[in-house]
Amino acid sequence: MSSNTNIQSVLTENRAFAPSAEFVGQAQLNADKLAALHAAAQADHLGFWADLARKEVAWQTPFTTVLDDAEAPNFKWFVDGRTNASVNCLDRHLGARGDQVAIRYEGEQGDTRTYTYKQLHAEVCKTANALKSLGVAKGDRVAIYMPMTADAAIAMLACARIGAIHTVIFGGFSASSIKDRVEDTQAKLLITSDGGRRGGHIVELKRTADDALAQGCATIEKVLMFRRTGHDVPFNPARDVWANALIEQQSTECEPEWVESEHPLFLLYTSGSTGKPKGIQHSTGGYMVGATATSKWVFDLRQGDVFWCTADVGWVTGHSYVVYGPLSAGSTVMMYEGTPMVPDAGRFWKICQDHGVTIFYTAPTAIRALMKAGDQWPGQYDLSKLRLLGSVGEPINPEAWMWYHRVVGKEKLPIVDTWWQTETGTIMISPIPGAIATKPGSCTKPLPGIAVDIVDEGGNRIEGNDQGGYLVVTKPWPSMLRGIWGNPERFVSTYWGQFKDAPAGYATPTGKWTYLAGDGAHRDTDGYYWIMGRTDDVLNVSGHRLGTMEIESALVSHPRVAEAAVVGRPHEVKGESVFAFVICNGERPTGADAEAFTKELREHVAREIGALAKPDDIRFADNLPKTRSGKIMRRLLRSIAKGEVITQDTSTLENPGIVDQLAGKA
Ligand code: WT7
Repeated sequence: MSSNTNIQSVLTENRAFAPSAEFVGQAQLNADKLAALHAAAQADHLGFWADLARKEVAWQTPFTTVLDDAEAPNFKWFVDGRTNASVNCLDRHLGARGDQVAIRYEGEQGDTRTYTYKQLHAEVCKTANALKSLGVAKGDRVAIYMPMTADAAIAMLACARIGAIHTVIFGGFSASSIKDRVEDTQAKLLITSDGGRRGGHIVELKRTADDALAQGCATIEKVLMFRRTGHDVPFNPARDVWANALIEQQSTECEPEWVESEHPLFLLYTSGSTGKPKGIQHSTGGYMVGATATSKWVFDLRQGDVFWCTADVGWVTGHSYVVYGPLSAGSTVMMYEGTPMVPDAGRFWKICQDHGVTIFYTAPTAIRALMKAGDQWPGQYDLSKLRLLGSVGEPINPEAWMWYHRVVGKEKLPIVDTWWQTETGTIMISPIPGAIATKPGSCTKPLPGIAVDIVDEGGNRIEGNDQGGYLVVTKPWPSMLRGIWGNPERFVSTYWGQFKDAPAGYATPTGKWTYLAGDGAHRDTDGYYWIMGRTDDVLNVSGHRLGTMEIESALVSHPRVAEAAVVGRPHEVKGESVFAFVICNGERPTGADAEAFTKELREHVAREIGALAKPDDIRFADNLPKTRSGKIMRRLLRSIAKGEVITQDTSTLENPGIVDQLAGKA
């Protein structure tokens, strides 16, 4: 199997850190309680989830069937049940904790705002009524292109309240990325903002949204625009509506739309190895069960916690652990608009201090950047309220883990390294902090009710622990994806085709089903899982998922580019960076021309996808290394990108002479 990342360091790691007696003493789940949960799930997978679903989610109509697998792999959970995600996040807390703060918000410029559960409920209801006044109804798709403000969370919850399906588009994506998503979902409303603030700059959200609408997006009827930056932006009175003014006029009560358990709560686009990003569809009932239960298990949430997940709501982490999970669990959520380096590398730690953050959840790329900035930054702030740390989005290297443990955690706080994906909806493999010793770089073991395994090319279980393989999920789980929007064939072939009827699968009337995660993994002698990185052509750049083919298509859409091949190259802070090999029409650019065209191509990719996809390196060549059957040898390109001495056999190449040129030697 081919893995993009360097796995050597994790495979030899054997330090283990048990949680402190103090943490274990207060934790909701200790080792015994966790063992009981695992035993219950193993004895009765469906009964376990049914009990949890009744306990963690408020149902307006109870479900009658736990799992309908008649049309596997299109699994349906909690059939006939009706619920509403916003009611779970808001209404059910109004009695016991209506005056507790639900969201603490800080803008990049230091402005703050808080919403109690009562206030958040009122805002969501008003916004939901505003959506209705614009003609949005159950099942309609609503695109959300917002800065990381509380208004973004309110917009999501307002959609959920009326049964509209939101699709949040990360604020760093370009106009053409917005257009692709809007056109794929056929959204009728676009919710945006005049702008947002990141990295000391204004992000021109409305202008970019306008560009997208100028390119297409024919289904969009109205653009609802929140006032945030207050700077001048174009306003089209025939189409644009100021959100703040419209919302102010609305009633603070809005009857929730009780939707079927399987009703889609949201679509979220994510990259795969081929084609355009896919619209991952999530359900309401099963998703809320997963989001609520994992928030409590993994983060040990309790009354008084201030939970800060630093992810943007444009990613699944922001859906499950900024909005739906922690609010459903009734905790206080911290939201921050900006980047960690504004005004300096102490910003995250200052926020932790000022807002009394107790649980901090971020990505390895941020940890590495903050580690690089130096120990003096966390050292300047009072982090004594912190009791638990988390990591998500990419493999965390042991060095970064140890820094997090030592400098932020003062060698006392447990670290939960959580493995999951846009597709899994919620956390799948993670330490339960009061119940298991952690090892730097391992996400430890699957959560109760989550059946994962490692298989070889043929789908056979790998029993031993000396060998890596493909990470798979062998039983359905409630928060699992429900499909790829508008593309049922791609759903089956991408995730379920490869190991259909493999020994490890879940038996249904239509066969045996095994979910292919797309990651390589290894299990050590203690049964701990170590994620080795993607086994497909998906890159993870600063925790952002990008398809190599997507970037290649962006490059090739430039008239001067004939062919392109993109690979990931290990990067100290980003984890991976984008390395592009480009073949131009006509002469190969050299010297000043190459320099200027590199710059132009980087901007071109930013325009096509977003700045996050810009290649760090572009190398021009006359040809790509291809086998006689025309296949690009990506493994060779990865070695070249890393600057490795080429030891691979290049004799099967159609054009072995090209290797020196690709390596920049000719
Ligand atoms: C891919 C999913 C999980 C939500 C954010 C990313 C990688 C994620 C870990 C981890 C090692 C991880 C995997 C996965 N990944 N968490 N703790 N250790 N790798 O969601 O954008 O759908 O990306 O991120 O490669 O497949 P996503």
